[in-house]
Amino acid sequence: MRDLTGDTITEAVISTMRDTKDPRLATIMESLVRHLHSFVREVGLTEEEWARGVDYLTRTGQTCTPTRQEFILLSDVLGVTMLVDALSNRRPAGATENSVLGPFFREDRPQQADASDISGGLPGTPLFFEGRVVDRGGAPVAGAAVDVWHSDGEGHYDVDVPGRVDPAMRALLRTDETGHFAFRSIRPASYPIPGDGPVGEYMAATGRSLMRPAHVHLLIEAPGHQRVTTMLFPSDDPHLDTDPVFGVKESLVASYDSYAADAGPCRGLTDEPYTLLRHTFVLEPRPED
Ligand SMILES: [Fe+2]
Repeated sequence: MRDLTGDTITEAVISTMRDTKDPRLATIMESLVRHLHSFVREVGLTEEEWARGVDYLTRTGQTCTPTRQEFILLSDVLGVTMLVDALSNRRPAGATENSVLGPFFREDRPQQADASDISGGLPGTPLFFEGRVVDRGGAPVAGAAVDVWHSDGEGHYDVDVPGRVDPAMRALLRTDETGHFAFRSIRPASYPIPGDGPVGEYMAATGRSLMRPAHVHLLIEAPGHQRVTTMLFPSDDPHLDTDPVFGVKESLVASYDSYAADAGPCRGLTDEPYTLLRHTFVLEPRPED
């Protein structure tokens, strides 16, 4: 293996991995080398550009902390996260689709009783959420674990609210025997993904918006069913078609209905104008069941 040229180096590198024991790793690494080399050839990568790329990836790693994952964010904004999800979770029409989990899920969320106020006392437009979880045939799924979490009216999660330590705007709920669950909180707002790191540089250089459309995150688990990691977006949000992480699906765009305090299904429950969000989630059976 000497005197390699631009024409022979790809096969030479692949040949060095001949003894890879794990067949899946062998497949992935061969393909990775082929695509990486093709990319370098296709754009005619210069030495200076190669060095900038190495510096960029180095800084992406250096930006990661226990509470910030710049590499996952990079995967998100390049569409890789949603592509992997699309390949892993093919669901028939009608089943609730997945979206990104995002960085704000917390294990230490409180378990709350049905119809609880999960806002943690934070100010905002009251949001009433009425959900229902059913199986493919429309039968209620009782006892499903439903995690919900969302931002406040300024786009901050509890971890970003100054001085806030206790979880807020998040809870673990359970569906009742009719598949229903409900909670009260405050209406979330759109917010920017972090723009002060390498991902922000890329977004600025390519003229892309950092703003995610507003959403409520949900993670639904029930025995015998596929786990659903999803979110619901308001249909009137101006950022639906420019979501930087490509998480919006038509089936996840929901009607966040606004009512005066003395009108609508939740009149009497609040003395302020409020938002009502109702949604039915359809779970698919787990393939192995
Ligand atoms: Fe989010």
